[in-house]
Amino acid sequence: MTNDKRQIMKLNSQLFLDGGDPEETKAANELLKTGKPEWGIGIQGQTTNPTLVAKNPDVQKYIASGKRLTQSEALAEYKKIVMAVAEVTKGPISIQVIGDQSTTKEDMLAQARVYKEWIPNGVVKFPCIGNGLAAAEIFCQEFPVNITLNFSQEQAAAVYGATSKRRHHVFISPFVGRLDDRGENGMQVVENELRMYQSIKNHVEVLTASVRKIEHLLYAIALGSPAITIPFKIIEVWAAQGFPLPDDSFMYDSTGLRPIPFRQLDVAKNWRSFNLSHSLTDAGLHKFMEDWRSLL
Ligand code: E4P
Repeated sequence: MTNDKRQIMKLNSQLFLDGGDPEETKAANELLKTGKPEWGIGIQGQTTNPTLVAKNPDVQKYIASGKRLTQSEALAEYKKIVMAVAEVTKGPISIQVIGDQSTTKEDMLAQARVYKEWIPNGVVKFPCIGNGLAAAEIFCQEFPVNITLNFSQEQAAAVYGATSKRRHHVFISPFVGRLDDRGENGMQVVENELRMYQSIKNHVEVLTASVRKIEHLLYAIALGSPAITIPFKIIEVWAAQGFPLPDDSFMYDSTGLRPIPFRQLDVAKNWRSFNLSHSLTDAGLHKFMEDWRSLL
């Protein structure tokens, strides 16, 4: 006889799909609805980015035929994808501004105002760089925002200040997998940001991103990350296991990963005084731009 007193944790996180193929959105929605009818949810939102748009099967087919898109045709494809996803979920759908370190605040704002008209449940993604936060500072008073390419707690402190006048939802997307890839404990950025935000009157919702394995997902659920964006492949693996939730004995195994310690930061400081620079933010921006340009 077993005397197992382990308690299964409650699912307090919203589950988003990380993808650029509306067929995956439909399939992920069905998997959740039929696999866990008692949760009463399907996919609760989606995140997209230029790399995921470039990987969309229709876009890929077009590019494979040797043709290229104009900038406005590429944006029309992006809009088509986002509108098809919005047929499946009424939850937040993140749409990313296209730009790099040289893109001005005004340019990002102009793009954001175009995206705002695409769907009612849009969220505009701005990169976690100076101009991205300056644009988000204004735009969060008009529409929901998601600050992407987040790799440090210090960046998250700046996001808090930059969006203090928000009138809509504010998400921040820490990229755990990309930190793991270079030997750092990415999940600790999620831990640290949740801890920092929980200690203050907070409005920023941590959206765990760059999820590469079930353990990332389960630990984000255990930590109570308000939202988690999950690639379709991981949803399939989770579904095949019967959508297990972590129990109260769950331990995240970070063996071999360098720790990222918590820092006491004064979020009340002017957001511009925080150090926003991170090499993975720069590399990520570069790659997003490269993938977008591969279509043009
Ligand atoms: C979602 O918002 C992010 O763009 C995505 O999770 C990044 O994932 P990746 O690191 O696997 O590209």
